[in-house]
Amino acid sequence: MPGAQGRYWESFRLKLILRIAIAVILLSTQANSQLQVNFHRGSCPGAEATVRNVVNAALGKSRGLGAGILRMHFHDCFVNGCDGSVLIDSTTGNPSEKEAGANKASLRGFEVIDNAKAQLEAKCPGMVSCADILAFAARDSVFFLGGPFWQIKSGRRDSNISRVADVGGNLPGPSSNFQQLTQNFLAKGLSQAEMITLSGAHTIGQSLCSFFINRLYNFNSTTPQDPSLDPQYATRLKVLCPQNNPNPNSVAPLDPLTPNSFDNSYFTNVVQGRALFTSDQALFTDAASMATVQSNSENGSPWREMFAQAMIKMSEIGVLTGHQGEIRKNCRVINS
Ligand code: HEM
Ligand SMILES: *[C@@H]1O[C@H](CO)[C@@H](O)[C@H](O)[C@H]1NC(C)=O
Ligand SMILES: *[C@@H]1O[C@H](CO)[C@@H](O)[C@H](O)[C@H]1NC(C)=O
Repeated sequence: MPGAQGRYWESFRLKLILRIAIAVILLSTQANSQLQVNFHRGSCPGAEATVRNVVNAALGKSRGLGAGILRMHFHDCFVNGCDGSVLIDSTTGNPSEKEAGANKASLRGFEVIDNAKAQLEAKCPGMVSCADILAFAARDSVFFLGGPFWQIKSGRRDSNISRVADVGGNLPGPSSNFQQLTQNFLAKGLSQAEMITLSGAHTIGQSLCSFFINRLYNFNSTTPQDPSLDPQYATRLKVLCPQNNPNPNSVAPLDPLTPNSFDNSYFTNVVQGRALFTSDQALFTDAASMATVQSNSENGSPWREMFAQAMIKMSEIGVLTGHQGEIRKNCRVINS
């Protein structure tokens, strides 16, 4: 029956061509982006919910930890990519990123990540990286505090290295000017607009006095106090941060209006001279940036959406995927 056989071979050939085409498409999309939404669906179902539950419980007791976790994610991504390197403890002779001036004494929330990791290792060992956990936890922290929610791709892998020397130059400093901030973010593949958007994270959390005290006393040889600071706000900051303060742990809220709510009041603070850092106030020294800050302060809705999009982009900086790196068993220690 040549007719039937011919049809059989024809359909076989079609199926084969179809399969090859599908395989080629799959391979090419994999090469473009190894991260996927719900990457852990098969290997560790409910992984994101586990992280969310741990974060919600921790923030329910101490809302401030949310700010710590968000900042930790930022510091992870800006130093050698979002690879969980910020979580690694120093060992003898190997000072880790934690020892850097920007991290030492003030990064917080490590126990929350440890707790999520312990639960996930118990459930599905070796499946969910510390870098993914931190990205989920930062997203969940923002949402818990009233900010936007966003879908986040996962499949990040962990680095096996963390060196204090790698931090320098990668993180912006609180005295940076507008040009320096812009350059710093551009170097990470983030635009000036995304820099302004992400600065809105300073709507939550706190800072050690040492990061802004130069604005309060002896600003320079002719001017005692930073004239861009609202004088009333400066007076309140001086109470929190007295001159010659014997307490090195004194802090001030980044957003004096609503310190634990993820809202757009950061931008209102910048407009009113009530932003804590020189780097925050710098957003009001450039005409285009000034207009963005002003409009974000008047209407927070577009900014919330932009913040979510910029966070997605930040969370994909320099990720390790596939067979790169490792899945750390303990976020503080590289696998042996
Ligand atoms: C634009 C340049 C930035 C500079 C110069 C900067 C600088 C700082 C400094 C000096 C502190 C105080 C640290 C302390 O004493 O604990 C801080 C806190 C904080 N930063 Fe930034 N930051 C920047 C951007 C960002 C970004 C992009 C995010 C997140 C997306 C972020 C999130 C936070 C949070 C949430 C806190 C409060 C931390 C806490 O309460 O523990 N910052 N930042
Ligand atoms: C880290 O991983 C790299 C590449 O995977 C490997 O060559 C290196 O030996 C590892 N370093 C440590 C300290 O395990
Ligand atoms: C001190 O700061 C003020 C305000 O920013 C500025 O106008 C002045 O030029 C500065 N003086 C010196 C000596 O740097």
